[in-house]
Amino acid sequence: MSDNGMIPHTIKPYLSKEKITKRVEQMAGELASAYIGLEDKTLFLVVLKGAFVFAADLLRSFPLNVRVEFCRAASYGTGMESSGEVRLDLPPEEVIAGRYCVIVEDIIDTGLTLDALINELLRMRARKVEVCALLSKPSRRKVDVPLNYIGFEVPDLFFVGYGIDYAERYRNLDHLAVVVPRDGGDPEKRDAKED
Ligand code: PRP
Repeated sequence: MSDNGMIPHTIKPYLSKEKITKRVEQMAGELASAYIGLEDKTLFLVVLKGAFVFAADLLRSFPLNVRVEFCRAASYGTGMESSGEVRLDLPPEEVIAGRYCVIVEDIIDTGLTLDALINELLRMRARKVEVCALLSKPSRRKVDVPLNYIGFEVPDLFFVGYGIDYAERYRNLDHLAVVVPRDGGDPEKRDAKED
């Protein structure tokens, strides 16, 4: 069995399930205040795969009856450094056009994925696009992106858990952790390898 391209590492808890839950419930409340009365025109767009856990918790705490759709937006290729190339797989234009779109993301790093996604939604005639992200790493930003609802601003560490992966592992952790390389290695410099 291969190591899926992971370097030897351990993981260290960063944010507990309880702290995440509290913040996610607050965010759901903030969103509800903003979108009450607009339910029929609002679409929550969950960006797979990483946002699936965050979105499941956020939306179950969200009291309004809105449409939920999913999309793929991948910028990392097989390594962990953003390649700058963003692949988008979105719902059809008739679903997007005329709607208030709330993008639900797990983490905003360089901002390249989000920038591409916002531009594409606007091209598809979204009425308005807002962004709700669990984590933001401002120190990594390469492009300025509007973030409307942020769970936590975090330093430039390698996060896993609560939907976020390292080489397709750890998504099912119920909390957030950081990858700590053994032997001083760098998880971002692991060999690129398709999982
Ligand atoms: C992650 C994350 C964002 C993007 C952020 O997705 O979910 O979509 O990278 O990076 P950026 O701000 O540098 O563009 P990833 O490509 O790892 O896919 P996944 O969610 O399927 O794991």
